[in-house]
Amino acid sequence: MPHSVRAVIARAKGEPVSIETIEVPDPGPGEVLVGIQACGVCHTDLHYREGAINDEFPFLLGHEAAGIVEEVGEAVTNVAPGDFVILNWRAVCGQCRSCQRGRPWNCFETHNATQKMTLDGQPLSPALGIGAFAEKTLVAAGQATKVDPAARPEAAGLIGCGVMAGLGAAMNTGQVGRGDSVAVFGCGGVGNAAIVGSRLAGAHTIIAVDIDPRKLELAREFGATHTVDSSQEDPVEAIRALTGGNGVDVAIEAIGLPSTYEQAFYSRDLAGTVVLVGVPNPEAKVELPMIEVFGRGGTLKSSWYGDCLPSRDFPMLIDLYLQGRLDLDRFVSETINLDEVEAAFEKMERGEVLRSVVVL
Ligand code: APR
Ligand code: ZN
Ligand code: ZN
Repeated sequence: MPHSVRAVIARAKGEPVSIETIEVPDPGPGEVLVGIQACGVCHTDLHYREGAINDEFPFLLGHEAAGIVEEVGEAVTNVAPGDFVILNWRAVCGQCRSCQRGRPWNCFETHNATQKMTLDGQPLSPALGIGAFAEKTLVAAGQATKVDPAARPEAAGLIGCGVMAGLGAAMNTGQVGRGDSVAVFGCGGVGNAAIVGSRLAGAHTIIAVDIDPRKLELAREFGATHTVDSSQEDPVEAIRALTGGNGVDVAIEAIGLPSTYEQAFYSRDLAGTVVLVGVPNPEAKVELPMIEVFGRGGTLKSSWYGDCLPSRDFPMLIDLYLQGRLDLDRFVSETINLDEVEAAFEKMERGEVLRSVVVL
């Protein structure tokens, strides 16, 4: 029997989202039905609504979620009904050329549910293959990662996207280590998570850069040792001054703009690393003197989803949260109902929140 549930739908490009009743099938082989408890509002949901990702409307939005497994299909062994899970958009295949070479965090053939959820008989496109602004959703079994149920769903769900992207940009992609100096450009949810990740990894200097003083204040609460308001001073000069004239070991760009990418590039020490985790718009271009790319050595990297491996990283991060070493609660700016997602998009655009989290 399919399940009729309330959900947040984007029907057409640029139109406000609406609450609709959708049909969610029972799980088939390799699929899992999850009762959603909490789901964060992410920029990517807004990008879907604006038609910036693709034209496959209608979209079922939401993808940063935690909930309880209600039913599992045939041949599902990683989770069972009653398990508390965080959803992910990297259910690794084990078969693609990257998985075969032992690099599942780059998997090129990630799994989603095979069956479609529908609205009035029309198939829905779930955001990032998840679709969790809904009372229940259907995902591939590998998209559900079991974690300690002692964690609050509002906080745990954030590990499923933005916070993981930031933590992973520092811990996985940037390989921040003890004694490193780090600069983070952009202190929204992703940048602040990069600050937290750098601190967990043992960085001794963490410089937060933003143009919004409210965000810099938050960055300090998350563990930045220094802040730079780049609307007031040149961040490259400021970072040099804070690092004995050298620059940082790891510069993390969490905005997605050419100007801040260039600042990150010039803020790093010789042989340092630049990590791009902010998502640029498709027209953005950077121009760099090639001699600087060569002469400074080091590495320029991008970080997709924090190079995370959900089965490895999600339970570990939840354990750190439960030990009081990773303050996920601080990322939850407000909790809202399903019908407040449109208002949350506006708050996000005005820079008023790190994360609005829908609680069901
Ligand atoms: N210089 C410095 N900081 C800037 C600039 C700039 N030119 N422009 C914007 N910012 C700051 C904003 O003030 C804000 O604090 O960058 C931060 C961006 O934060 P959010 O908009 O909350 O975005 P977030 O959710 O953190 O995501 C950041 O990562 O996953 C991607 O799509 C996401 O590209 C986005 C990025
Ligand atoms: Zn793979
Ligand atoms: Zn997201």
